[in-house]
Amino acid sequence: MGVTGRKVRIGIIGCGGIAHAHMQQYLKFDDVEVVAGADLIPHKAEKFFEEFGVQAKCYNSHTELLEDESLHLDGVSVCTYNMTHAECTIAALKKGLHVLLEKPMCVTLEEGIEMMRAEKESGKILTIGFQPRFDENMKMVKKVVQSGVLGKIYYIQTGGGRRRGIPAGTHTTFIEKDTAGLGALGDIGCYALDVVLNALNYPKPLSVTGYTSNYFGTDPNYVRYQQNNHPEFAKKFGVDDFAAGFIKLEGDIIVDFRISWAMNMDTPGDTIILGTKAGLRIPSTDCWNGSIGGPLKLYSEVAGEQIVSEIPMKESNVPCFELKVRSFVDAIEKDLPAPIPTSQIIYNQAILSGIKKSADLGSEQIKVEIPEV
Ligand SMILES: NC(=O)c1ccc[n+]([C@@H]2O[C@H](COP(=O)([O-])OP(=O)(O)OC[C@H]3O[C@@H](n4cnc5c(N)ncnc54)[C@H](O)[C@@H]3O)[C@@H](O)[C@H]2O)c1
Repeated sequence: MGVTGRKVRIGIIGCGGIAHAHMQQYLKFDDVEVVAGADLIPHKAEKFFEEFGVQAKCYNSHTELLEDESLHLDGVSVCTYNMTHAECTIAALKKGLHVLLEKPMCVTLEEGIEMMRAEKESGKILTIGFQPRFDENMKMVKKVVQSGVLGKIYYIQTGGGRRRGIPAGTHTTFIEKDTAGLGALGDIGCYALDVVLNALNYPKPLSVTGYTSNYFGTDPNYVRYQQNNHPEFAKKFGVDDFAAGFIKLEGDIIVDFRISWAMNMDTPGDTIILGTKAGLRIPSTDCWNGSIGGPLKLYSEVAGEQIVSEIPMKESNVPCFELKVRSFVDAIEKDLPAPIPTSQIIYNQAILSGIKKSADLGSEQIKVEIPEV
């Protein structure tokens, strides 16, 4: 049991796809009870809890749920689509609740700053759900970088892509502007940035030049839409399916970034980190979602010889999604800091927002200015 001597009481805001993964983890923990859920779609929260055989109170919006003080909640999982991340998170923090928020943090940098202000005023935990952080191979990337073996790091290439992988199966919340706000850029671009920025202890972004396109998403002949019999998807597509960016970080480091939900290529390249003493290659995967595609490779020079060393892949005993949700519960119970803090992820968000702004304005080099919170 937690510090309160009772089970941690959780509510779930947004009972769609990813809420299932949150619920599956909470059900594994005998020191947690999920007591409430909310969804804007009528009866969706009720059906969600029926599926799990869990008795919980159901509401038609985050506001209704948060106003019910009889629930005595400790925290919430915010599992809504990107465009309501900020609204739901700020409202929960203002009610004095801890928040585990799904990635990406939000859509705009301004929203991110408002969320951090609400977090600071509340004194509660706001952690952002980047589960790849808990993967043993991701941890190894950070260990290699932090060991100093690469020397001075000056250039990073990061990103990933899918040949045909626009996430629009049964619903369209990932591809509509009003719900998603960002496309591949926010959905999987946030992971690609976190891999490298976390390894480097999140250096501050200084400027961003960005580009986005949507040639595949808006094409009614896009093969996946036909398979799903949803010819309307192309009309609904209102976000990017490809994004690229050129980012300057403090410490004289360049990041060359590209991300794609659909492209005529197998991969837009592995993630590479170049240093003056060694370089690190992090192999990409077919379905980029923040996992590592094979052993890390370290390129260095020993006694005048150019060598390549392989770092064997590590197995994780516990799935990283479970570790992400567990780390939130532990932070609540043991009064720990947020496992994946906004002080880091706001830099990730600033880059995503900078790429979008630069692309929308058609302008080069947007200066990144992040207000103090
Ligand atoms: N970590 C991961 O691996 C992972 C995987 C998939 C999705 N996600 C993230 O999870 C989020 C949700 O994705 P999804 O696939 O579950 O989407 P979804 O559309 O299936 O579910 C979102 C639900 O939130 C509800 N909602 C929106 N605003 C609300 C509000 N104010 N109050 C109550 N309910 C509200 C919607 O009605 C919808 O049912 C996205 O931000 C996505 O990036 C993360």
